[in-house]
Amino acid sequence: MTQPVPITFTQTDHSDFAAYDGLLVVLAAHGTPLGEAARQIDALTHGAVSRAHGSDAFGKLAHGAGITLNWPAGVAARAVMVLALPEAATTQEARKAGAAVAAVLDDKGAQVVAASHPRASDIAFGLALRAYRFDYHSETKPAFGSVSMMVDTPERTAQAAAPLAALAEGVFFTRDLVNEPANILTTCDFAARLAGMQELGLEVEILEEADLEALGMRALLAVGQGSESPSKVVVMKWMGGGDEAPLALVGKGVVFDTGGISLKPGAGMEDMTMDMGGAGTVAGVMRTLALRKARANVVGLVGIVENMPDGRAQRPGDIVTSAKGLTIEVINTDAEGRLVLADVLWYAQDRFKPCAMIDLATLTGAVIVGLGHENAGVFANDDAFAAQVVQAARSENEGAWHMPLQPAYDGLIKSRLADIKNTGGRAAGAITAAAFLKRFVADDLPWCHIDIAGVALPPSATDLAPKGPTGWGVMTLNRLIADKFEG
Ligand code: BES
Ligand code: MN
Ligand code: ZN
Repeated sequence: MTQPVPITFTQTDHSDFAAYDGLLVVLAAHGTPLGEAARQIDALTHGAVSRAHGSDAFGKLAHGAGITLNWPAGVAARAVMVLALPEAATTQEARKAGAAVAAVLDDKGAQVVAASHPRASDIAFGLALRAYRFDYHSETKPAFGSVSMMVDTPERTAQAAAPLAALAEGVFFTRDLVNEPANILTTCDFAARLAGMQELGLEVEILEEADLEALGMRALLAVGQGSESPSKVVVMKWMGGGDEAPLALVGKGVVFDTGGISLKPGAGMEDMTMDMGGAGTVAGVMRTLALRKARANVVGLVGIVENMPDGRAQRPGDIVTSAKGLTIEVINTDAEGRLVLADVLWYAQDRFKPCAMIDLATLTGAVIVGLGHENAGVFANDDAFAAQVVQAARSENEGAWHMPLQPAYDGLIKSRLADIKNTGGRAAGAITAAAFLKRFVADDLPWCHIDIAGVALPPSATDLAPKGPTGWGVMTLNRLIADKFEG
């Protein structure tokens, strides 16, 4: 997987600023005199830092943004960056500041003089998240140079940074999975990458088609039956808590969604390599929990299939029996994610008796129509649980919005021939998808469905991610687990 750039924390040392030849970064606050390091670099650069700090441009900078002075006289640094970040900055501002450094980071590396800044670990985290690169270009760019942060209490900062480094690795794992094309990330390859996490102490179990058949997962198997790649369910367990019931995370892992016989239009179909984003997020969370040895019990289950048109593919009009026993009329083979989740949700709840369950899925285009790329849609059978999820997302600055899910919508997925049908028509498309899933979850189990179709792969860069996959949800769920499920 893509490894985050390593960041080391060293004792603040003012003796050698002239000689450092990478990107030299100092922090400054609006309307406050420069700190000691900045004053020293200012002296070396014949006043460049103080002029930048006093400029109108600096005055207009938001917290976390910076001014870059390229090839300044008097120091060896290729650039000096003056970051607008007061001591009282928020976590989010500190992360943005780190991301601003990452945006100009190159193979020469960077030295960030954070000195006594209380959010140095969040500066490092933002830097790591934004310094993400993934491509198959045959001419590769040189790797990012090393990053060191000068702080007054290196041990304490390193301690605060350790769980954030685990989180960055989890986010990178998710982004890599979402980036991988479907000829590389086949169902088998996906399962193998998850099995590889056993070396981190996760228990990983792979259910093959014969197992799924025995469990009666006809809804999930029907989606994959047109593909050459076998369908799988992968179970990842992290039992770092006591003997309390686990939290269950469930993810949609459609490695490619052509739509099946209800074939999608050609334009933009290449984006459907990201249709395993829900499973990717679940995998990233499990990786983070293992890396930071979380004191919580969490099981992650992902349904991994490929939705292809073929002589053996399922047809519109087919009726399948789910593992729960509910019969489903398949109106549209492109509404495949809910068929996969139906069986995995039921299985997760039946086998693990979880205390709560959350599923993530790139489930509907309708959620993008409703919320765009700013918010994931949160649907739940329990308002209090939904509020906790939305709160966790807010703490991590990942957009999430609680959407309605009343019984009134259930009528839209009634079928003449079966118990339910897999589409509800144009109206409320994201809600009817959630209403479908609700039928596979016990009423008394707090459950939340998160439709991440709009946020998993937004069309442009975000604060903490370059253009491409964001890894949306890894931070939110890690925060939720830390705050609500960790003893
Ligand atoms: N994977 C798609 C949803 C999607 C769309 C994800 C765009 C990311 C970006 C899902 O399987 C799908 O095809 N949904 C259909 C459902 C419809 C047939 C009821 C949709 O949203 O059009
Ligand atoms: Mn589809
Ligand atoms: Zn899909």
